[in-house]
Amino acid sequence: MTIQLLSEGAYRSYLEPLPDAGIEASHRARVWFGDGPLHEAYVKLYPETNHGLVNEITGHLLAASLGLRVPERAAVIFVPKRSVPDLPAWAQALPGHSIPGWCTLDMMAPSLHFPLSTETHGRLGLRPFLLEELRQADEVARIIAFDDWIANVDRHLGNLLRVGKRRYLLIDHGQIFGGTGWSAATLLGTNIPYRNDLSDALAPESQTPGYRARLAQEARDNHGPALTRARASLLDWWMKLLDEPQRAAAAKFLDDRTHESQICERYQMLPL
Ligand SMILES: Nc1ncnc2c1ncn2[C@@H]1O[C@H](COP(=O)(O)OP(=O)(O)O)[C@@H](O)[C@H]1O
Ligand SMILES: [Mg+2]
Repeated sequence: MTIQLLSEGAYRSYLEPLPDAGIEASHRARVWFGDGPLHEAYVKLYPETNHGLVNEITGHLLAASLGLRVPERAAVIFVPKRSVPDLPAWAQALPGHSIPGWCTLDMMAPSLHFPLSTETHGRLGLRPFLLEELRQADEVARIIAFDDWIANVDRHLGNLLRVGKRRYLLIDHGQIFGGTGWSAATLLGTNIPYRNDLSDALAPESQTPGYRARLAQEARDNHGPALTRARASLLDWWMKLLDEPQRAAAAKFLDDRTHESQICERYQMLPL
């Protein structure tokens, strides 16, 4: 799984803003990924003052390396400023004609946010049905363990698309490493516990000794090898977007959190 780097010419047309577009000017656009037809895609612009873009890239590459489902195409795309209506002030102030944005293919699947959050659907019984499905899905335990590893503090149910029965797809890794505002200093304590929204949504079942043992097993079996497989691509992007102390801190953070001692501490397990 690679992340493409697309030039301004690949950004064909702006379609519409997302309902809560925010300072990232999130929107849908038509994009040419370099082969085949034009595609509809989601695009968001992260200010250079935070690590949102590098977080998206890192989370996407690691998820793919673990074999978790992510959008089939992902890219950093140079978005022409003139194409985006209501461009936020921070973006207008940047020099140049275009701004790098995070772009993923529209996977045309609903996120779990709506069915799990509205009263109407609650009354229809969809909420308990979907929560039970999430609790039982093996894939969900893998996702919770993944988010614990990368310190993703934003896996609310809007960042999980349901692509079929017990089949989910991960989007939005803007807030890994504890959030967009991380620095080499905030990653120093590599064994700090972080909030995990998906685990919280499935509590108390997600916190039983049995479930914790499953999470620990997943971390032990898969995180180290996934990091090894993704390392070259990660470094490639990190060289473009991070300075040396940041790269070293990010690498150590991810690496330390795959170690047996940290996994045991994280899941309150006795060492093997
Ligand atoms: N690749 C995608 N395929 C389908 N839907 C998507 C995709 N990316 C984003 N979305 C939809 O857009 C919403 C917002 O996108 P997201 O990346 O989570 O941005 P934000 O940072 O605003 O939360 C998601 O909750 C989801 O419904
Ligand atoms: Mg989101």
